[in-house]
Amino acid sequence: MIPVRSPKNYNRCKTSNGVKTVTKKAPVILIAAGPTREKIDPVRFISNYSTGKFGYALAGEAIRRGARVTLVSGPTCLEAPQGVKLICVESAIEMRRAMLSELNRADYVIMSAAVSDWRLKKVSSRKIKRSSCKVTLELVENPDILSEICARKAGRVVAGFALETENLETNALKKLLGKNADIIVANALKRRSAVFGDNNTDIVIIDRLGNKVRARNRPKKEMAGIILDKILSFNI
Ligand code: C5P
Repeated sequence: MIPVRSPKNYNRCKTSNGVKTVTKKAPVILIAAGPTREKIDPVRFISNYSTGKFGYALAGEAIRRGARVTLVSGPTCLEAPQGVKLICVESAIEMRRAMLSELNRADYVIMSAAVSDWRLKKVSSRKIKRSSCKVTLELVENPDILSEICARKAGRVVAGFALETENLETNALKKLLGKNADIIVANALKRRSAVFGDNNTDIVIIDRLGNKVRARNRPKKEMAGIILDKILSFNI
């Protein structure tokens, strides 16, 4: 059973004898998944190794539980689970725009995307030619989408992810507090393949009250269930 968080999530109907009835609508879970791509020129980009598997597994599990799911996805090779509202984006700026425009309809937000921290200051409109002179790419910081969403939380439960190469729990907790999220899912990067694209993974879920749930070496699909259990039962 998925809890319904706000009055906008109730259907008001009139029966034939004029009696008003109120039924619960399924909650809306807004999920960001996959990498972002930041253009260098018409044929090149900066990105990362994210495959989107975790976010898509969360979307599939949320649908299976009867939620309404909006999936804002960076470029992936995955097929979106049936029944999701899929919004495809490429860059961090596009992802930010889509997430903020869907935020009002959401009861829960899961920011599982690997957003590129930087983008090119100036994207070349022509393919940059290889030449003898050095090419320098000037980067500017991308907006932190999770922080912006948390600044507009208004009663929603917001979860982020933290991929760390060292001091997993300390760094994840710092991220949780720094971004003002409710929950952070910490993922240790030991070998690249153990996180990106792999089916099995280890996680620690930390909430802002300091509670921790650990799960080791389980498929991402099963982890998605554990994460949703935590998010959907979190009381603000
Ligand atoms: O700071 P870091 O990138 O490690 O934080 C990870 C969390 O922040 C993830 O939930 C990720 O989706 C989110 N994030 C974001 N916008 C960025 C960078 C990360 O929303 N520009």
